[in-house]
Amino acid sequence: MYLRSVTVMRHEESETSAYPFSIPAIRAIDTLAFSHQVTFFVGENGSGKSTLLEAIADQCGFHTAGGGKNNTYDVDAAHSALGAHLRLSWMPKITNGFFLRAETFYQFASHLDTVPGALQYYGGKSLHKQSHGEAFLSLFKHRFGKKAIYLLDEPEAALSPARQLALLRIMKDLEDQAQFIIATHSPILLGYPDAQILDFDEQPIRPVKYEDTLHYILTRRFLENRTTVLRELFAEDEDED
Ligand SMILES: Nc1ncnc2c1ncn2[C@@H]1O[C@H](COP(=O)(O)OP(=O)(O)OP(=O)(O)O)[C@@H](O)[C@H]1O
Ligand SMILES: [Mg+2]
Repeated sequence: MYLRSVTVMRHEESETSAYPFSIPAIRAIDTLAFSHQVTFFVGENGSGKSTLLEAIADQCGFHTAGGGKNNTYDVDAAHSALGAHLRLSWMPKITNGFFLRAETFYQFASHLDTVPGALQYYGGKSLHKQSHGEAFLSLFKHRFGKKAIYLLDEPEAALSPARQLALLRIMKDLEDQAQFIIATHSPILLGYPDAQILDFDEQPIRPVKYEDTLHYILTRRFLENRTTVLRELFAEDEDED
């Protein structure tokens, strides 16, 4: 492990209700410790997972729209409001790694096309000439190396269930030397063995067991009782009308 914890520094701004401290989970962070090679951020939409992940990327010196240390390119809204408030504790400190976010992957792919020689690190083919999922997996296979920290924001957005399993396999191969922090809604990715799952729906954010995540509970219930779940769901809708 490399990144041991993040501490949110309290400045005056933190007393205000402005973003990012308007987010309950972010407001409640004092120090958040990482205890495993693989950490997942889970929580409802808008609970603050991307905000924190992006701030960590910012403090790692990675491009906040996605990329590593050497990727500089312009996209809108690449600024991290929380980054300046964050202190990272490393043991040992490393600088290799990558921040990946599904939303700006397209711009990242365009950027790579402009960098001579860059594509050799990404499977030798423009990411635009591969499907969304193929490009993602290309990146994972070719760009991920050892002794690095990988910050991934919803990598499942592009991946079929089979490719999500492939990602788990890639992570397993790297786990001895690489650290992963992943914001996800995927019950498949969350099933990675011996991972720390941090629940952003709790304040303060706290570890939760895989089987206690809403992702696991709801998905399992849906798969096992699809007809009943749908009947209940649609019946409620009809009641409201
Ligand atoms: N630049 C910004 N300025 C103001 N508010 C923002 C900004 N970015 C995000 N927010 C708000 O902060 C909250 C947390 O957003 P964030 O993207 O961190 O959520 P998330 O947990 O990643 O959600 P999701 O699961 O949908 O990706 C949301 O209510 C969002 O509207
Ligand atoms: Mg998000």
